[in-house]
Amino acid sequence: MHIVNARVVETKALSKNILLKKFHSPEIARNVAPGRFVNVKVSEFGDPLLRRPFSVCDADGDEFYLMFDVTGKGTRILAGKQNDETIDVLGPLGNGFTLEGDYETALLVAGGLGAAPFPLLVKRLAGKRVLAFLGGRTRAAVPDYGIPNAVVASEDDSGDFRGTVVDLLRERANELDASTTKIFACGPNAMLKALQTFCRDEGFACEASLECAMACGFGVCQGCPVEVKSTPDRYALVCKDGPAFDLHDVTLP
Ligand SMILES: Cc1cc2nc3c(=O)[nH]c(=O)nc-3n(C[C@H](O)[C@H](O)[C@H](O)COP(=O)(O)OP(=O)(O)OC[C@H]3O[C@@H](n4cnc5c(N)ncnc54)[C@H](O)[C@@H]3O)c2cc1C
Ligand code: FES
Repeated sequence: MHIVNARVVETKALSKNILLKKFHSPEIARNVAPGRFVNVKVSEFGDPLLRRPFSVCDADGDEFYLMFDVTGKGTRILAGKQNDETIDVLGPLGNGFTLEGDYETALLVAGGLGAAPFPLLVKRLAGKRVLAFLGGRTRAAVPDYGIPNAVVASEDDSGDFRGTVVDLLRERANELDASTTKIFACGPNAMLKALQTFCRDEGFACEASLECAMACGFGVCQGCPVEVKSTPDRYALVCKDGPAFDLHDVTLP
């Protein structure tokens, strides 16, 4: 884990509200793995006080990328950081996705900005067949970066399928072989709960990156517990033990 002053190199608007920001930091970029995250101090003046967690979306040489939705004060400040400004970043943090395994197909499933960790995951899944089902309110709410040939489920007619991403999965389930497929997921708890039921009913292995409010980001404040069936004391910390967990093993709030 490093604390670095990461320098903004580039900012791209992927849609009206979604930004992709590229930062220079060899310490983060060279040590990150898919599903790991950084905790960003967006303001040097203590407002907001807490750091904001973001999945590392992609990494290339000495540079890493964050993809984020401007939802509140922290992300608004981050959005306004200009090229050559630096920002205090703690990371890489947490345990990312487990890539090893004898599955043949990696099926990536996300809701909204849950797709943020997938571009780096796609890069590191070389040798596997990769499919992606992404959900959002509209096609424009689904990030269009680094995930080739994604099938988009939307609440309106702008996507490839009308309905939730788990509805899409149910519709296509007969085209998938649960014995050779592993699902990688990230998104809001409501989506993950529906996915949990689907995976249990259809027998799919699934690892999911959980979202929750965080403070320290590395296991000190105890502020991010999740109930986990397989551990003796029945809880784990999302920031330190995750954020990626076996979806069959967690009880989602
Ligand atoms: C491990 C992890 C990785 C994340 N990766 C990304 C990412 O790659 N891209 C991205 O856009 N967001 C990501 N998030 C969520 C991100 O941290 C929040 O969007 C951000 O903290 C909001 O800060 P803010 O000050 O702009 O908004 P705030 O003013 O703090 O909140 C604005 C709104 O966002 C909601 N919100 C705040 N934090 C979270 C959260 N952790 N999960 C869900 N909703 C939240 C609040 O309930 C509120 O409705 C991640 C969260 C975690 C825990
Ligand atoms: S955020 Fe502090 S322990 Fe997880």
